[in-house]
Amino acid sequence: VSELHKTRRELLDNVIGGTEETTTGVIRLRAMAQDGALQFPVIAVNDAMTKHLFDNRYGTGQSTLDGLIRATNILMAGKVFTVVGYGWCGRGIAMRARGAGANVIVTEVDSMRALEAVMEGFRVMPMHEAAPQSDFIVTATGDKNVIDEPHFAIMKDGCVLANSGHFNVEINIPALEALAVHKHQPRAFVDDFELPDGRRIRLLGEGRLVNLAAAEGHPAAVMDMSFANQALCAQYMFAHHATLENKVYPVPTDIDLEIARFKLEAMGIRIDALSAEQTAYLSSWQEGT
Ligand SMILES: NC(=O)c1ccc[n+]([C@@H]2O[C@H](COP(=O)([O-])OP(=O)(O)OC[C@H]3O[C@@H](n4cnc5c(N)ncnc54)[C@H](O)[C@@H]3O)[C@@H](O)[C@H]2O)c1
Repeated sequence: VSELHKTRRELLDNVIGGTEETTTGVIRLRAMAQDGALQFPVIAVNDAMTKHLFDNRYGTGQSTLDGLIRATNILMAGKVFTVVGYGWCGRGIAMRARGAGANVIVTEVDSMRALEAVMEGFRVMPMHEAAPQSDFIVTATGDKNVIDEPHFAIMKDGCVLANSGHFNVEINIPALEALAVHKHQPRAFVDDFELPDGRRIRLLGEGRLVNLAAAEGHPAAVMDMSFANQALCAQYMFAHHATLENKVYPVPTDIDLEIARFKLEAMGIRIDALSAEQTAYLSSWQEGT
């Protein structure tokens, strides 16, 4: 999408619309629409409940832990594990790290999400307090330099850093490279940076998405819902593009609900249905209270 808008604009006439998979992609597209720069309508697949509640949370939660374990083979039980960002991905990572027996800290910049993490039973604190006590620090923010030079200066010896959010910008790797007096690779996907005071910081997968670099990404059993959204939204876009403006649209609720129904059916799980009496009761204001 970015290339089409920046360098291949001659192709734009043939594009009727798009569908966007990721959190960060949707943020960028909303910014383009806000500036009037977006040249075709886009459906924000990431915003579907059958996408972010499952892929971002359970998919990223599991595959991130998988990447960390495959890369390091360090025992999680009893380790202090900091998750940076308590969004959908961060929630999943924190939940699975706790399940593996780690003592989980969450850092956030959003009060509501920080509060949620506190009530979920996680320790919440600023990064400068988390850094000196963490054995693992994993980012999932979509933001840049959330782990930066002042944090490297106070990190515990042997701290393992990984990113499961966006691209390779969440950890300030150029600053870490500049600080290091020696760098070597003790195992695949692990870069060991020695600092002037002798402490070591270990960066996984060059700071790129650790679940893709050191593991296999999400299992198909959760990506199926994300890609069902992609397919059904492409079909919707094909049918409705003539009436859509150059904006970012949510996934139609009917598509989201249909995917949830199909997923349950595929898992062999049946649920109850409202009776006529219950439907009438739930939609009435005259009965009850
Ligand atoms: N690894 C994967 O396979 C995978 C899968 C899905 C999404 N993603 C990516 O992961 C990132 C996060 O996605 P999400 O759906 O959880 O997003 P989200 O918007 O739900 O959550 C991001 C959270 O990070 C917080 N944050 C931002 N800057 C911060 C900072 N400096 N310190 C602490 N917290 C900070 C925000 O307040 C927010 O709560 C995105 O870049 C997304 O594209 C990766």
